[in-house]
Amino acid sequence: MRQQLEEIKKNAEAVLKAANSLEDLDAARVKYLGKKGELTAVLKQMGGLSAEERPVIGQVANEVREFIQNELDERVNELKSSLQEAKLLTETIDVTLPGEECEVGHRHPLSIVLDEVKEIFQGMGFDIISGPEVELDYYNFEALNIPKDHPARDTQDTFYITENILLRTQTSPCQIRAMEERKPPLRVISPGRVYRSDAVDATHSPLFHQIEGLVVDEGITMSDLKGTLDTLAKKLYGPETKTRFRPHHFPFTEPSCEVDVSCFKCGGKGCSMCKGEGWVEILGAGMVHPKVLKNGGIDPDKYSGFAFGLGLERLTMFRFGLDDMRMLYENDVRFLEQF
Ligand code: DAH
Repeated sequence: MRQQLEEIKKNAEAVLKAANSLEDLDAARVKYLGKKGELTAVLKQMGGLSAEERPVIGQVANEVREFIQNELDERVNELKSSLQEAKLLTETIDVTLPGEECEVGHRHPLSIVLDEVKEIFQGMGFDIISGPEVELDYYNFEALNIPKDHPARDTQDTFYITENILLRTQTSPCQIRAMEERKPPLRVISPGRVYRSDAVDATHSPLFHQIEGLVVDEGITMSDLKGTLDTLAKKLYGPETKTRFRPHHFPFTEPSCEVDVSCFKCGGKGCSMCKGEGWVEILGAGMVHPKVLKNGGIDPDKYSGFAFGLGLERLTMFRFGLDDMRMLYENDVRFLEQF
């Protein structure tokens, strides 16, 4: 039996030496030390030994087991570290290789101008709010004093979800929502996407952006409107910019006006940007119609207000001297990287 054990030890030593993968070593562990392994098989026969022989053989068996276990551990460690070394060698980084260029994106011109406008109004104490793009006919038209048969609807055809639900044609419905949700004094702007069933050309798009403004308080007058929008124009286009308020008509304001700014390119002399006029129109505005205040749950005998609507694309095109609105939507990197 002692001989058997010596034999196992010798074989195991040779097998472990020859093994050159972790799988080989695991197979050797099962073969010699496993429950059904060779060493266990020998130990099972110990019952047949005499009382004197048993402890002697037992000790030899333990020594053999310890020997194999130690050899095994050593080989496993050896193999693991050489595998690790090989892995590190294949994964070395050549720090002298040229780096990969990482292209930096640009802010979209619409976002640049929108942020400027937001900052200007925030500086004047306005809150920034938003409203749904899928809107009820009531908020988009009816509550703004544009009943079903009103001709103003002809210029604002849009995409209908149902007869009473549509893609909003203007940000003006936010006026009603703001009045319903807040109490005067009220000072908000509401930027967002609007939709019209227009064909795409240099100045039209079925999706564009507006920024609505609304101020309601006691004693608000047209001079507050003029002062606010004059400040906007000077901050956006420079301190020498002049504003011109022309009478106009909107169903939801009375009186209403359109606001022009002196052309920032030629200073008012006339150029291609302002088509020789010296002025460019930037927005519509007016004193909130008493009916509209009432629809918003505000008493028109106590409160008055002014409202305005800016076209973000128009502002942006003037700001950067663009002559075709489509450039803003084409996502051409050669265009966008200029901002
Ligand atoms: N909603 C108008 C439009 O889309 C623009 C506008 C004009 C908004 C006058 C206003 C306003 O708030 O007072 O043409």
